[in-house]
Amino acid sequence: MAPRKLAAGNWKMNGDLAALAEIDALVADYPAPGCEVLICPPALLIHPAKARAGDAIAIGGQDCHADASGAHTGDIAAAQLRDAGATHVILGHSERRADHGETDATVAAKAAAAHAAGLVAIICVGETEAQRDAGETLAVIAAQLDGSIPDGATAANTVIAYEPVWAIGTGRTPTTDQIAEVHALMRERLEGKVADAAGVRLLYGGSVKPANAAEIFAIPHVDGALVGGASLKAADFGPIIAALAEA
Ligand code: 13P
Repeated sequence: MAPRKLAAGNWKMNGDLAALAEIDALVADYPAPGCEVLICPPALLIHPAKARAGDAIAIGGQDCHADASGAHTGDIAAAQLRDAGATHVILGHSERRADHGETDATVAAKAAAAHAAGLVAIICVGETEAQRDAGETLAVIAAQLDGSIPDGATAANTVIAYEPVWAIGTGRTPTTDQIAEVHALMRERLEGKVADAAGVRLLYGGSVKPANAAEIFAIPHVDGALVGGASLKAADFGPIIAALAEA
């Protein structure tokens, strides 16, 4: 069976209580969206967001610690995200890899913690512009997948997001052929590593907008998107959800 499509919004370090009105607007406009919809707001907003999201929209975190609890000032455990109402968590985003020195091993440990807490781990991979220019893209993605996916990953508890670092927040996107090439590699690479590899949702992320969403969603093995800037406003995220539901 084809994987259920997923439109995921990553609010990053944006938004406040007033911004939850955007979730209200999405719920009102898309009561039965036709695909899975997820919003990952800053951690402080998870609980109030869940209270307003209803059943139409899932809520997720943007990071968790690898340990279940303990002396880690400022960090959040996967079970605490779950307790607040999250069902998913983004892990290994390139901004966390760059800003916080997260390695593939860190990401795998966090994903295992997420699974143990009953969360779906959205594991991010992506090449830098220098790596693409050097012809290293496929090798980089393969290595990130091999190192970042923990034992016990399944189609039910793991989503992979391909986010080229140079496409994030830049308005630049790869060609459809470039996205297709990476997504085909990812599908193949998951075989033997993840139970039911064919059912793992593979998201594309990086400057997804209403104007380019339909073209991206038509690419083989693209099962949805991880959207940054365009997920902040219902007026932008809504058309992306609609394009995915129609794809
Ligand atoms: P933009 O959609 O703003 O390019 O961000 C993509 C992203 O990093 C989502 O995680």
